[in-house]
Amino acid sequence: MTAATGSAKDRVLIFDTTLRDGEQSPGATMTLEEKLEIADLLDEMGVDIIEAGFPIASQGDFEAVTQIAGRVKNATVAGLARAGDKDIDRAGEAVRHARRGRIHTFISTSPVHMKWKLQMEPDAVLQKVIASVTRARNLVEDVEWSAEDGTRTELDFLCRCVEAAIKAGATTINIPDTVGYTVPEEYAQLFRTVRERVPNSDKAVFSVHCHNDLGMAVANTLAGVVGGARQIECTVNGIGERAGNAALEEIVMAIRTRGDKFPFQTGVEPTMLMRASKLVAAATSFPVQYNKAIVGRNAFAHESGIHQDGMLKNTQTYEIMTPESVGVLKTSLVMGKHSGRHAFKEKLKELGYELGENALEDAFKRFKDLADRKKHVYDEDIEALVDDELVTAHD
Ligand code: KIV
Ligand code: ZN
Repeated sequence: MTAATGSAKDRVLIFDTTLRDGEQSPGATMTLEEKLEIADLLDEMGVDIIEAGFPIASQGDFEAVTQIAGRVKNATVAGLARAGDKDIDRAGEAVRHARRGRIHTFISTSPVHMKWKLQMEPDAVLQKVIASVTRARNLVEDVEWSAEDGTRTELDFLCRCVEAAIKAGATTINIPDTVGYTVPEEYAQLFRTVRERVPNSDKAVFSVHCHNDLGMAVANTLAGVVGGARQIECTVNGIGERAGNAALEEIVMAIRTRGDKFPFQTGVEPTMLMRASKLVAAATSFPVQYNKAIVGRNAFAHESGIHQDGMLKNTQTYEIMTPESVGVLKTSLVMGKHSGRHAFKEKLKELGYELGENALEDAFKRFKDLADRKKHVYDEDIEALVDDELVTAHD
């Protein structure tokens, strides 16, 4: 319940595609064992749908989707399929033994994709939408249909395709921003309009799927939800094609931290976010950028004296969420040339030193000189500096 309104928050489904769209990042290929470990963790942390792979793409992908489908306890397991019969049958076979299996089928609907990639007329694409969803629905109850390059699709045609997909039995309708082109207000409005114009739109869950080419994937994702979508497609650490997909950890924490703007809830346990980030980084060998929101190593680190002083007085001065809430052990006050006396004194205390005023002043001066010369000042450097100070004082 929200205190302000007394109403329950709307549940938004988290559809993780780390193992499918994430793995499509150049160089992010994962082994079967790594995929199983990631799927287990995603399931444990409360992800609603795990897109485990693209079964027709390779024997390895088929195997991974099949095995994940057979072991996941709570989440729905999805397999991706283009609009062709072989793709759909293969995806159906792979998710057959899942407790809850989903076929996720897609086709491009934008003029540029239809003309150049598919080389098909819009009417033929529309027929494929109907045929593919119908075929998938004959294999599983849970069918997602995606309009690839949805945000560059002509609105009337998009509505016709969505209407046809729902009529053929699609239970989820995804409108992806395949090339990271949209902006938040436009994406929110797209969902409002499509949901208003398409008959029986309430029979399907609408889904957002955003790429990060202009750095707006998370902002667009949240806007899509405000516009009425109730499923979010995302990846751990935001890995994915080109500049990546919307980052799961950022979305989960934005919803938790700004419930006033996003009155929704997810089923994801936030204290597991850091573990998931580390696991995916290790499996893909993709390092997480230091300043990455939520899971970057600097996300809860402070170096400047002003910030450190504020943090020592009250952590809310410079942190809008606690490190513990996302599975990070604690805030770190990094000692460097921007650090102030207050933090230096605290650091000494942590290292077991209590210095008198004069000795402290002297040690602080020497620390500042050192920090000007050295990029990283480690605890050992400070210990050496203070030990030296104490020896000099005794001489
Ligand atoms: O970005 C995209 O359009 C996709 C679809 C296959 C859903 O990944
Ligand atoms: Zn994608």
